[in-house]
Amino acid sequence: MPAISASAPGKVILFGEHAVVYGQPAIAVPVTEVQAKAIVTGRPDQPAGWVNLQAPNIGLEAPLMDLPADNPLSKAVKGVFEAPSISRIPAMTIRITSTIPIAAGLGSGAAVSVAIIRAVSEFLGQPLPDERVSALAFEVEKLHHGTPSGIDNTVITYALPVYFVRTDQGEMKRVETFKVSRPFTILIGDSGVPSPTSVTVGDVRRAWQVNTARFESLFESTGAIVEHARRAIEHGDIKALGPLMDENHELLVDMDVSSIELDRLIQAARQAGALGAKLSGGGRGGNMIALVKPAEANFISESLKTAGATNTIVTQVKS
Ligand code: MEV
Repeated sequence: MPAISASAPGKVILFGEHAVVYGQPAIAVPVTEVQAKAIVTGRPDQPAGWVNLQAPNIGLEAPLMDLPADNPLSKAVKGVFEAPSISRIPAMTIRITSTIPIAAGLGSGAAVSVAIIRAVSEFLGQPLPDERVSALAFEVEKLHHGTPSGIDNTVITYALPVYFVRTDQGEMKRVETFKVSRPFTILIGDSGVPSPTSVTVGDVRRAWQVNTARFESLFESTGAIVEHARRAIEHGDIKALGPLMDENHELLVDMDVSSIELDRLIQAARQAGALGAKLSGGGRGGNMIALVKPAEANFISESLKTAGATNTIVTQVKS
């Protein structure tokens, strides 16, 4: 049996993080410069059902049966095995590698899940449709933080810009891919501070419970920015996106999910000529994004590094 491999990109949220958990729309795009990869190799020398997981990035090598039920890698594999159509599991090794920074808002958890689900289902001769891949990855996302909106697994599965609205506990979603009339360039800057999404999502939830009216209003204002941004992207009005990013960042500051490090990078990007900048993802650490003119990307990237960014990625957003 030949080895089977599958890859999945990272992602950034352009507009609408956190508010998306509460039913507002958000826009996210894939980041193909970073990838998670899963390679499944048959092991005819081992008995059926023998499955070994290797994830050198996190120093893990273990039989599947030794991993706890709440291990995200194990949950992704078992999600495929539990499909009613799978009757026999041949022995296999699943090797997972990733260049997506962990706990940085770039969707590393969802990308690893999507790569595993695709590679394992194909290895078993039952490749799953995108909708099913995304649904299984969503189940794994619930381990990362209890109330995911589903945007990460969706944008990463479809690997296209998405406009996303969560409804009904994230199980049913409105997902639309939409036209990017004029490609534009995003610079991503890593604050170097790991920040698990579970923590910020939990903090926002507690703050919303205490101060519901204020947070509902922040979420609604975010939703209005997202709608405006979608129209601007569809009409190729790229200039409008910069100020919208700045406004979205202010709302995230009010939600208390920014940090000194992120604010420093955002300020540095604007001073170096970015058209707008904001944090992206869960916040408090992880990455920020800036809208830049392609010719200025390198200069602004250097300015971010001087201001403390540990890594930068330049990516083009297109349909
Ligand atoms: C994480 O990439 C985005 C958040 O809105 C959480 C979610 O949507 O599940 C912070």
